[in-house]
Amino acid sequence: MWLKKVRQLDVESNSGFVTRVLILSLPSAFIFIMLVVLNLLEPYWALLSYALTVIFNTIFLMPGSSELQQVKNYINRLASDSVGDDCPEFSEQEAKDIAAAVNSMHKFWLYKTDALEAQTISDTAVLDSLPDPILMIDRSGNILGANLASRQLIDSKITDKNVEDVFGSNNFINAVNKVLKKESAAESLVFYAQGNLNKKMYAHIKQLPWFSKGRTVAVISLYDLSKAMTVEKMQSDFVANASHELRTPLSVISGFIETLQTSAKHDEDARETFLKIMADQAEYMSQLIENLLSLSRIELSQDKVPNEKTDVCKIVKEVTDALSVKAAARNMDIDVNIEDKIPTIIADSQQVKQLVQNLADNAVKYGVSPSRITIDIKQVAQIPPSKTFNVAKGKAVAISVNNKGPKISPEDLKRLTERFYRMQAHKDLNIKGTGLGLSIAKQIIMRHKGNLTVSSTGYNGTTFTVYLPIKL
Ligand SMILES: Nc1ncnc2c1ncn2[C@@H]1O[C@H](COP(=O)(O)OP(=O)(O)O)[C@@H](O)[C@H]1O
Ligand SMILES: [Mg+2]
Repeated sequence: MWLKKVRQLDVESNSGFVTRVLILSLPSAFIFIMLVVLNLLEPYWALLSYALTVIFNTIFLMPGSSELQQVKNYINRLASDSVGDDCPEFSEQEAKDIAAAVNSMHKFWLYKTDALEAQTISDTAVLDSLPDPILMIDRSGNILGANLASRQLIDSKITDKNVEDVFGSNNFINAVNKVLKKESAAESLVFYAQGNLNKKMYAHIKQLPWFSKGRTVAVISLYDLSKAMTVEKMQSDFVANASHELRTPLSVISGFIETLQTSAKHDEDARETFLKIMADQAEYMSQLIENLLSLSRIELSQDKVPNEKTDVCKIVKEVTDALSVKAAARNMDIDVNIEDKIPTIIADSQQVKQLVQNLADNAVKYGVSPSRITIDIKQVAQIPPSKTFNVAKGKAVAISVNNKGPKISPEDLKRLTERFYRMQAHKDLNIKGTGLGLSIAKQIIMRHKGNLTVSSTGYNGTTFTVYLPIKL
């Protein structure tokens, strides 16, 4: 027992304990020396008494010291993170109290650490969920943190690089320096990121309110302007195309007006022919304007969810009836096959009519003469997925329009729904068209979360299939 305690205490290495025993025994030593000096006690009795005092003090101090030593070891273990060790059992009240206090402090810090970790994880998740790049920089412009969008845009190992090396734009660096030197609290600018990025970007650089504390002193939020520029370019291309398409018939008309006013002034036959051409061109212009207005109206309605009960079968019959004269003129018949029990769908009836009209009209225009056009209406369990737009889940109505004709090449198939795109073969055959019918159809389908598939073979002809969800 004694040996165990001594080992536990490790007296030899514990100079603190020995010193404490000696200091506690010091007054007794002084008293014994005085008693010997005053001849009141024999030196050997004094020595014996002093030895007894030392032994007594050792025994008296040992349990406490032993327990304190254990408390010390326990705290060291907690501090070195070797958690899992249970707190030792103490008999001394003081040691118990100290251990309990340390224990509750340890639990408190564990709780705090967990809360901090959770906070950091959620902060990182929030930053990573932002679509635009965000960077945190220190006083020297070194990147300390970057959200997912930044890492994807710039480099996965972006941290510790300097903004100067990453963006290489003098205007941008000047703006960053202004904020870092506290000459300005925030700076915004549009700049061209050089090097690998090679992009036009918008940046907002902001000093943090706790500028003097911590390492992060400023935050840079970036916005990639190239996407917006692509949209702008598409819009300006569209305006340019539309103007070009309108200018062509207009110049034909004005050319003939001039001819009729001058050289063909008295030529009756020429007048007839020219007026016919002019009427055709005017008709084309009004169709083009009508299509352009339609397209813009449908684009504007894109965010409105269609909500009318729509009878697709009735619409198909109305459209084919109206087209029958035009079809007959080309020696074509239109067959409509409707599967049993086609439900009404929730849609924009007027737009569905326009969609069916555009597809059936194309079949009449581009199908071979004489031949048969077949329109099938069926119910399907699922709309085939689209790579470019959102498609509704669940049951749908499929309208297939088939006409006989030469196979459309894969290159043409890919481009059919582009605005103003017309196949060269049809332009050469002088078949009238604006090249907007299928892009209008695509916009209507997108609004309805449906889909459009096209298949074309030499033998079966060309089939356009439109899928419209029954419920949106
Ligand atoms: N059923 C079809 N068969 C063959 N080619 C077609 C068919 N439908 C459309 N096309 C081709 O796709 C082009 C674009 O069609 P569309 O957008 O309706 O414009 P438009 O009919 O006014 O020319 C047409 O010019 C034509 O070349
Ligand atoms: Mg068309």
